[in-house]
Amino acid sequence: MYQVSDLEKQFTAALKSIARRSDLKSYVEQTPQVNRLLRLTADRYVTGEHRKDGLNVGRKLLAKGYAVSIEYIGENTTVATECEAAALEMMALIHDLSQGGVPARVSFDLSHIGLSLDKEFAFSHLMNLAEQAQEAGVELFISMEESSKTDDILSVYERAASFNPNIGITLQAHLTRTPQDLAAIVASPSRIRIVKGAYQEPADCSIPRSSTLSDRYLELVESTIRQGHRVSIATHDEHIIEEVLERGWLSNSDVEFEMLYGIRPDLSSSLKAAGHPVRIYLTYGHQWFLYLCHRIAEYPPNLFQAVMDMVSNEEVEVEVIKAYG
Ligand code: FDA
Repeated sequence: MYQVSDLEKQFTAALKSIARRSDLKSYVEQTPQVNRLLRLTADRYVTGEHRKDGLNVGRKLLAKGYAVSIEYIGENTTVATECEAAALEMMALIHDLSQGGVPARVSFDLSHIGLSLDKEFAFSHLMNLAEQAQEAGVELFISMEESSKTDDILSVYERAASFNPNIGITLQAHLTRTPQDLAAIVASPSRIRIVKGAYQEPADCSIPRSSTLSDRYLELVESTIRQGHRVSIATHDEHIIEEVLERGWLSNSDVEFEMLYGIRPDLSSSLKAAGHPVRIYLTYGHQWFLYLCHRIAEYPPNLFQAVMDMVSNEEVEVEVIKAYG
């Protein structure tokens, strides 16, 4: 695994804080030259700003034999009309997926559709989406956000999943509370996605990137499989992936690997070539700033790639899709 230096750890923490700065986000959105330059770097991880961009890349990856998840990016939306607009966009995405014969999973943040304003508001959007998704044969998936929102996200999820099992949930291995959360949702038949966790969290409630975290990750996956859940192993960590393969967990047809678009396409490609089920997680939308910061923060050498992408004449999307083999 890539070894992270102290300087890189500080860089990661700083970039995750920058990602949270709404003044910087507005500056990037409202300053055309800066926006254009950073968009060139975001193209490596985000399919584009519009639904058709996500659908277009999704079709290409499906044709190569991958499964696909799609997210309309956005979170922490505090204006009711913007939450409603986001829910409508997700409805349109579900519609286009089913009409266009694109069998993709739709992922989203509850705080994009109202959680930051009112739990009931988010719940009613979720129920509308779930109803439409079930009719359309599309699977819905809730992402996990900062630990300050975990209780609210789990309570909205549990309530909605009791009416509609077609809603999956993401759990973060880096939160110390997660084994208890997993035990609490065991009755729900939903698919569970295990991630390490992308947010900067207080030290007293989280485990930093380490072998302890990798062990915790594997324990959670094992326990989720043992409890009979469908599981998405969402990581690019080769050590974890090797362990999963060695332990034979992939022989269970309800277990899959899931990786972010643009991250380690070589790894996705070799797993797929070996016959393992691999799902690629695509994003689209205007609010790519925080997403871009997280992808660079997770792996500081991506900063070099970002600078190269700013001056490259190559079409990044063509290069990325090609890397998926
Ligand atoms: P880790 O960060 O330890 O990286 C292991 C190795 O993978 C690195 O050494 C490097 O080789 C490679 N790698 C990782 N990130 C890279 C990058 N950006 N660029 C290049 N190489 C990279 N988080 C969250 O908090 N809530 C959520 O809902 C989700 N949802 C989600 C869905 C899916 C499908 C995935 C794959 C991930 C998420 N995440 C997430 C993000 C997740 O929490 C985590 O931040 C990233 O997956 C990176 O962690 P790894 O498990 O890859 O390990």
